[in-house]
Amino acid sequence: MTALYKRDQAAIANLQKLRFFPLAVTGGRGARLTEENGRELIDLSGAWGAASLGYGHPALVEAISGAAANPAGASVLSAANGPAAALAEKLLTAFPGSGDNKVWFGHSGSDANEAVFRAVTKATGRSGVIAFVGAYHGCTVGSMAFSGHSVQAGATKADGLLLLPYPDPYRPYHDDPTGGAILAELRERLEAAPERFAVAFIEPIQSDGGLIVPPTGFFKAFSAICREFNVLVVCDEVKVGLGRSGRLHCFEHEDFVPDILTIGKGLGGGLPLSAAIGPARILDCASAFAMQTLHGNPISTAAGLAVLETIERDELAQEAERKGKLLRDGLARLAERYQLIGDIRGRGLACGVDLVLDRQTRAPARAEAAKLIYRAYELGLVVYCVGMNANVLEMTPPLTVADTDIVQALNVLDRAFAEVSDVPDTVVSQFAGW
Ligand SMILES: Cc1ncc(COP(=O)(O)O)c(C=O)c1O
Repeated sequence: MTALYKRDQAAIANLQKLRFFPLAVTGGRGARLTEENGRELIDLSGAWGAASLGYGHPALVEAISGAAANPAGASVLSAANGPAAALAEKLLTAFPGSGDNKVWFGHSGSDANEAVFRAVTKATGRSGVIAFVGAYHGCTVGSMAFSGHSVQAGATKADGLLLLPYPDPYRPYHDDPTGGAILAELRERLEAAPERFAVAFIEPIQSDGGLIVPPTGFFKAFSAICREFNVLVVCDEVKVGLGRSGRLHCFEHEDFVPDILTIGKGLGGGLPLSAAIGPARILDCASAFAMQTLHGNPISTAAGLAVLETIERDELAQEAERKGKLLRDGLARLAERYQLIGDIRGRGLACGVDLVLDRQTRAPARAEAAKLIYRAYELGLVVYCVGMNANVLEMTPPLTVADTDIVQALNVLDRAFAEVSDVPDTVVSQFAGW
């Protein structure tokens, strides 16, 4: 444990920590982080997907420095600013939905989802919200109210919340890998109360719930049912959007267009920035209703613009598709040798590895996952785990990650799998994780 980690332990509150090992960072370049002692690690998490362009990308450095040197104010609340307007215009052009859309800016995925929920319920006069078991939509009171992740089991839930099982082809609900039983349940609940529900929050890949890729066609059918009952569909792409899945928007894989899209994390490339894109009748339904002083500030929005331009110019969505295959192919080779690997899934550079105690029963290997990522850290790799049982390795590296870094990360994982049983319980039990 480095001196920096100890200072952090002494001075920074646990409330905002999700720690798995004593990582303490002093710098970064590309997909690599540097520790105090000069050791370099490959960041296969990309700071939970926020470091979309990697660390220290020249386009981001230039955009942020320029915006900070001559800032157009500090907020969009009471003044227009150029970077915010330009980013909003770019996001509108990139959103395929037809109609009269607007953009709302926030700081985080949490505030974007909460603002959308509040706006939709105000604009429609309906209060019911549909979401999924395992969903993580944020950590504010409002966004926790319609999240279904076990880590937030004690949070107050929205009065009209309906949580449906997420369609998980690996552990299917009612033994139906198509998710048909869930769609039937949705229809039944909407028919029983046709005017009740305002909105459904979906994740096109359920990330913190276990990096689960839904069966093809599920969300197309889901959104068609919602539309029949005038329920707006909000696609939360905070983690898997903006090129990560191999397409600019992850919903493009599913052949449907949501009413509202929320994005965050990678949009700011490491700066606090989120956005919601949706119909003006919802996002214009009131003023001074969902705002924080620094929302739409010109430095974060200049960063967002640089991120989008770089994704486009360097074809990072296509790159994510190619590199994701490289990563999953390598993981598949590891699965031939390590029984702990139950399932490998994902799209583009959003990859999940489900660790199981037994391939037959698919019982989650929670303790082994904690030990594996600890050992990987010791060997020079940053990768975290997600899922209701914290047994799924989640890999969301920078879209700019080098092929050689992927190969090296796979070599580290190989060794970590071989040595997982050497990690003592007492070492991992010091880190609370999820
Ligand atoms: C799908 C999804 N939505 C929302 C959030 C919340 O984003 P933030 O932590 O930036 O508030 C997360 C964070 O992990 C997420 O994965």
